[in-house]
Amino acid sequence: MKDQIRQIEQEALKEIASAGLSMDALEALRVKYLGRKGTVTELFKTMALLPPDEKPGIGVLINALKSTVTSALDGRIAGAARSGEEADRVDVTLPGIAGKPGRIHPVTQTINQICSVFISLGFKIVEGPEIETERYNFEALNIPLEHPSRDAFDTFYLKSSEKYLLRSHTSPVQARFMEKNKPPFSIIVPGKVYRPDATDASHSFMFHQIEGLAVSDSIRFSDLKGVLEIFAKQLFGKETKMRFRPSFFPFTEPSAEVDISCILCSNQRLPPAKQGAGQAEAGSQKRCSLCGGKGWIEILGAGMVNPKVFKNVGYDPEKVTGFAFGMGVERIAILKYGIPDIRLFFENDVRFLKQF
Ligand code: PHE
Repeated sequence: MKDQIRQIEQEALKEIASAGLSMDALEALRVKYLGRKGTVTELFKTMALLPPDEKPGIGVLINALKSTVTSALDGRIAGAARSGEEADRVDVTLPGIAGKPGRIHPVTQTINQICSVFISLGFKIVEGPEIETERYNFEALNIPLEHPSRDAFDTFYLKSSEKYLLRSHTSPVQARFMEKNKPPFSIIVPGKVYRPDATDASHSFMFHQIEGLAVSDSIRFSDLKGVLEIFAKQLFGKETKMRFRPSFFPFTEPSAEVDISCILCSNQRLPPAKQGAGQAEAGSQKRCSLCGGKGWIEILGAGMVNPKVFKNVGYDPEKVTGFAFGMGVERIAILKYGIPDIRLFFENDVRFLKQF
């Protein structure tokens, strides 16, 4: 039996040594040798059957075997635990992974900027659906069936049905809002609009507009001028001048196209000595590249709400007056930042986007 004990000890130590640092493997060995039916436990049971005078000597040997195996296993288990901790430890001396901070898209930045000017003047932000009906996109706005913008070439009609289209401007929200609300109110409506234009440096089939609408019992054209002048000065600088040119929109009467003094040649961008309306530089013969020599650039369409529109939404045109305007956001951003091509906004090129 002494030989058997020695042999078991050798085998156990060898197995424990080669078990590596796997906790599962070490636990299996503990069960194999020291468990209830383990090899060492079985030895004690065998010893009980020995003649009384042999028991003490063998008992000492089995006890010694038990403590050898136990301490060999304990040593290994402690090592395994330590190496587990090491794997979890963070090496603070390793180079870090730099985060790439995102930023707000220049179009969104421009929308936010424009909206905050109007919010400071008491306007509320309202939004409307991008999928519209002919009623809101055209009819309620007094755009007749024969109007060129109702042609399939100028509006995206949705295939499934003749009734739905992608709104070609944000003006339908004027009618939607008026149907559900009573004056007085002043709202601005930022959002995407769609037109099947061939894409080039200044056209995109999708772009953003901001619509404005103010209605009360006493809104006048001078209110429109005052509000737009504050907007233009806040966005393009205090020296910015504004002019209204007579124009036509079916949903406003009278209507105007609104220009600002060119921010490149007629405005604060150049020192006063270099400013010369329409010229690349004061006294120069070369025309300004931004306004083409006119000294003015168009930024929006506007007018007094057509009484027919009021009637279409259930208002009494004798009792209310209002103004409306609509501007293209990309155009404003292009002018403000001197961006050469509208497509840059939508190509997701980080080299472009990270400049804003
Ligand atoms: N909806 C017009 C456009 O898209 C702009 C506009 C809005 C003009 C409101 C006048 C009043 O061109």
